[in-house]
Amino acid sequence: MSFWDRLNLKGKKAVVTGGSRGLGFAMAQALGQAGAELVIASRDEEKLGEAASRLRDEQITCHTLAADLSTPQGAEVMCQQVLQQHGVPDILINNVGGRRIDIPTEEMPLEEWLRIIDLNLNQAFVCTKLLGGAMLPRRWGRIINVASICAMIAVPHIKGRSYETAKAALVMFTKATAADWAPYGVTVNAIAPGAFLTDTNRRWFEQRPQLQHDIEQEIPLGRMGTPEEIGPLAVLLASDAASYITGSVFVIDGGRTLA
Ligand SMILES: NC(=O)c1ccc[n+]([C@@H]2O[C@H](COP(=O)([O-])OP(=O)(O)OC[C@H]3O[C@@H](n4cnc5c(N)ncnc54)[C@H](OP(=O)(O)O)[C@@H]3O)[C@@H](O)[C@H]2O)c1
Repeated sequence: MSFWDRLNLKGKKAVVTGGSRGLGFAMAQALGQAGAELVIASRDEEKLGEAASRLRDEQITCHTLAADLSTPQGAEVMCQQVLQQHGVPDILINNVGGRRIDIPTEEMPLEEWLRIIDLNLNQAFVCTKLLGGAMLPRRWGRIINVASICAMIAVPHIKGRSYETAKAALVMFTKATAADWAPYGVTVNAIAPGAFLTDTNRRWFEQRPQLQHDIEQEIPLGRMGTPEEIGPLAVLLASDAASYITGSVFVIDGGRTLA
């Protein structure tokens, strides 16, 4: 089998949480271009529909699922719907997450702390347990957890350390699950992005251009990533070409964490 054949995802079904926008959409699109059938899940049905029709324009088979993964309960509902409507996936990308707060620890209400842990860690645990767990009897599966370089460093420009904490825990969950599930042929890896110029970030930087400049100054490659740049890494990790890779964390940050 050639290298290109090993990257081909034809016949594989992939669930991408938060697949309607940003990095999730870019990874879903790359997986679809590599041949995978997609199920993308997020809250806003209209945005989901728009994303699906963009993907279908590229002849990608794409199903949508409106779901709120802010809580473990919401994640459980989504997983049950995936299993009932689409069966056991081959590939799961746990991409939903985000910081959405800028509160220093000394002022952080417990509810805010827990909300971010739910959004970045607990729902990913539920999806891994239910959808990843269902992969075990089939003895093939790929789970990719989207962490962040904030699992390794505390970024200076924004507070809300529940995010760093949750992403660091997601990385260790990735490694421990990888060890447990390696005998079943289910690999579990993490991608740790640095700053990417998603539409959400672009809008944010329009209000704070100095912040964009400051962040870019810290990146050795001198710019933020574009969402398309994360797609090929997701395809590699989802494919047979990555059959000997598990429990690894792939930093994709233009060199931000080097110095
Ligand atoms: N962008 C970056 O620079 C960067 C850097 C490091 C790590 N990351 C990580 O990469 C992942 C994706 O980030 P992003 O920047 O691409 O985010 P984004 O542009 O804000 O997109 C987030 C996606 O997740 C969905 N989503 C958000 N909250 C949800 C919820 N409660 N339930 C279900 N779906 C939800 C959104 O759709 P709806 O709003 O319609 O639900 C959308 O599809 C996150 O885990 C983030 O922490 C991003």
